Amino acid sequence: MPYIREIVGQDHPTLRKVARRVDPKEIDEPLFQQLIDDMFETMYDAPGVGLAAPQVNVSKRVFVMDVRDDEHEPAVVINPKIESAEEEVELREGCLSVPGMVGDITRYKRIVVTGLDRSGQKIRIEGEGLLAQCLQHEIDHLNGTLYIDRALNLRPAISEEEKEAAEA
Ligand code: NI
Repeated sequence: MPYIREIVGQDHPTLRKVARRVDPKEIDEPLFQQLIDDMFETMYDAPGVGLAAPQVNVSKRVFVMDVRDDEHEPAVVINPKIESAEEEVELREGCLSVPGMVGDITRYKRIVVTGLDRSGQKIRIEGEGLLAQCLQHEIDHLNGTLYIDRALNLRPAISEEEKEAAEA
């Protein structure tokens, strides 16, 4: 059974580490599969559109996401690599590890990421819009970076519109 793990806050040292690559042999192990299930459970409970392993105090290069539209299935990405990124855009963003806050950040509008899925198969994700934003936010987490490091106009999320900013 999956369970909800504690999401660590912005001052937790694990959020500032470069997470370790996952050995592909590890992916099939029950403990690793449990981690993925727990991360989905935790993300949906929050609720958020993405969650990286360091946010549940596991320093490994894996994240889950679900942007909840009709086009995109929930996804797990292990050992992600950015293949290309195009066109900068300013977006509103939040983070489950920095609850109640929102800021404006420059992200790429389109991005291509490769990696492995939860069965160890190679995957390639082409993202635009919220999906592209989420991919960049989660990969930052794996590199010890938080959006607040670069965000401008960081502020408490007050309006409904601000509360709906991408929480990941
Ligand atoms: Ni985040």
